[in-house]
Amino acid sequence: MITYNEKQRTFKLDTPNTSYVIGIVDEEGFIGHAYYGRRLEDADVSYLMRTDEPPFVPSRNNRERCSFYDCFPFEYPTGGVGDYRESCISIRTKGGHTGAMLSYVSHEIFDGKPKLEGLPATFGDEGECTTLRLVCEDAIVGMRVELLYTAFNDTDVITRSVRVTNTGKEHFYLTKVYSACLDMDNQDFDMVTLHGSWARERCIQRKTLGFGIQNVSSFRGESSHQDHPFLALVSKNANQESGEIYAMNFVYSGNFRAQAEVSQFDYVRMSMGIHPENFCWKLESGESFQSPEVVMVYTDKGFDAMTSSFHRLYRKHLIRGEYKDRKRPILINNWEATYFNFDTDKLLPIAREASKLGIEMLVMDDGWFGKRSSDDCSLGDWKVNEDKIKGGLKHLVDEVNKLGMKFGIWFEPEMISPDSDLYRAHPDWAIAIPNRTATQSRQQYVLDLSRNEVADYVYEAVASVLRSANIEYVKWDMNRQLSDIGSFGLPADRQGELYHRYVLAVYGLQERLTSEFPHLLLENCSGGGARFDAGMLYYSPQIWCSDDTDAIERLKIQEGTALIYPLSTMGAHISDCPNHAIGRNTPFETRGIVALAGTFGYELDVTKIPQEDREMIPQQVAMYHKFNDLVREGDYYRIASYSQNKSFDCWQIVSGDKAKSLVTFVQVLNRPNFKSRRILLKGLDPDKRYTVSFENNKDIEEKVYSGDTLMKAGILMPNPWGDFKAWLIYLEA
Ligand code: DGJ
Repeated sequence: MITYNEKQRTFKLDTPNTSYVIGIVDEEGFIGHAYYGRRLEDADVSYLMRTDEPPFVPSRNNRERCSFYDCFPFEYPTGGVGDYRESCISIRTKGGHTGAMLSYVSHEIFDGKPKLEGLPATFGDEGECTTLRLVCEDAIVGMRVELLYTAFNDTDVITRSVRVTNTGKEHFYLTKVYSACLDMDNQDFDMVTLHGSWARERCIQRKTLGFGIQNVSSFRGESSHQDHPFLALVSKNANQESGEIYAMNFVYSGNFRAQAEVSQFDYVRMSMGIHPENFCWKLESGESFQSPEVVMVYTDKGFDAMTSSFHRLYRKHLIRGEYKDRKRPILINNWEATYFNFDTDKLLPIAREASKLGIEMLVMDDGWFGKRSSDDCSLGDWKVNEDKIKGGLKHLVDEVNKLGMKFGIWFEPEMISPDSDLYRAHPDWAIAIPNRTATQSRQQYVLDLSRNEVADYVYEAVASVLRSANIEYVKWDMNRQLSDIGSFGLPADRQGELYHRYVLAVYGLQERLTSEFPHLLLENCSGGGARFDAGMLYYSPQIWCSDDTDAIERLKIQEGTALIYPLSTMGAHISDCPNHAIGRNTPFETRGIVALAGTFGYELDVTKIPQEDREMIPQQVAMYHKFNDLVREGDYYRIASYSQNKSFDCWQIVSGDKAKSLVTFVQVLNRPNFKSRRILLKGLDPDKRYTVSFENNKDIEEKVYSGDTLMKAGILMPNPWGDFKAWLIYLEA
């Protein structure tokens, strides 16, 4: 619901529990941010912009125009004329000047949500959301800026994006264009972000917000292992169940910056957008630039509520395609089973054994093409290596299909090995700076997808393999980050467009792929989880979470990922021990219970694992089938975090009708002489009575308690004997 009050010149955007108020101020039409928070009945909160306090608006006190600029809460701040906080948009005109200031021109309010040209974005039909398009301009530059806001009716989310058009006669350069900004009073905020590394993605970090600028960012060409396009400012007392949270998440897979700046007046400017480093977009007269979308969530009910808003939005209004609301086939991937050392004779026995155990799809990972037997060659040469895949790909796929299994395949379409036929034919197709030897990473370069002929080659290479056999799943990998930013296809004054054009091209390729192959299950991946972001979720309903498949390391990784993203999106597999990333031994049962909280699959040689592990697989498969609807669609609650308590992890999923719930408890290190732990459950119906059963220990007697008791008094979790042990508890009303 969005309304405009003409008398007060205010816009009020409402979601079920939040309101957002924008005001137009002064004769010059400054667009100010008045309020974001708990839902308001009264829209007249324009006093919060403090225009009645000195230094006053310029029409009343032009002598202090600069002071006004520097403290006014702008909806979309420009720079260069007196606001010394960091701006959201920077330009350079033909004359080399950078200052700009935006004034209100017009607006429209309409039901539904428009698509963003060439970009992934959340969607909703006319009954589900309302959009405000606020048009403003800098008449001197000749720049029109459209601020797009959508308020959703079924979840507490407001999305924002920006479209900039050159309405003048001369070209100008956009050197920065963020997508969203919140100018607010600092409420003694903490800052919550997700940081990581390869095999350690998305660990939650919380710290005090201080004066000055604090940010997280990536200019690696992808959202990255290291930082994540997510930022939350949270009140000091915020915990899982209570406290205020302002969160932003970027629907974008390239360079980003997520920033909070605390000014001299203890105001906070929170912003998010494409990282300005190496960004410079030329806008000719009449041309436009569309920024990616930021998803904003506000709640005063803590992290569980924030998570629930993101999960609902992404499940319903971002993920598309046939598998959106469907169970995914249980897959077995041969990467950790064989690495590059495989052929048909190794794959088929794995498939045969897997099919007997109830596994539903074989995925052939890296190494099936060109002459690739290690990671030093052949990327770009997407021709099946028939020395390994004897009898050809179709033969292998048919044999796997005969077992009643689906077949999936791995690609790394964006890359080119220096040792490849493709590179020998087209050395200029790699991203590189002329006369400088480009930096290799994993002995490969990145293809310059900003060139149409390169993107077309890549598309045909992938599509022709998919057309050649009954392939029902693709793992789209990306194993290095961008460097040496230079395109042999772009003119000098457009080199600063390469990073963003690259991301647009990846989106374009995946859009084409999912259109031509609508039944395909696409899983994105980037050296583990370096491109696990909302942008990629628009194309693939699941993303490989991390190359660290150790069940204990996964507790942290899956906790951080699930802070924003639904469990249905998290690629999670059971692998062999000692774990290949960390060398740890954990019980096979625990590995299964942790993987159940994601898409679920296997990453091991099922013909070689211990017999007792193999025997457990049919039970794990049965559990997946029993619980996956609940895991995919239910509401997720964090009960305890091993990262915080250093002892155990616990989470819960509750079905929408509150009739079913699944609780996972993982003990990390046991302690001697310790009794059971009391765990308070969440999200249940207080008036329903639930049967509580320990799914992986039927010796523990089933009990029946009311939801009220389970949430207030809790259940007693027996102390498991040994380290790395887990309980899976099922509740049914
Ligand atoms: C990185 C992925 O995360 C792995 O699962 C595997 O596919 C390798 N790349 C293959 O090179």
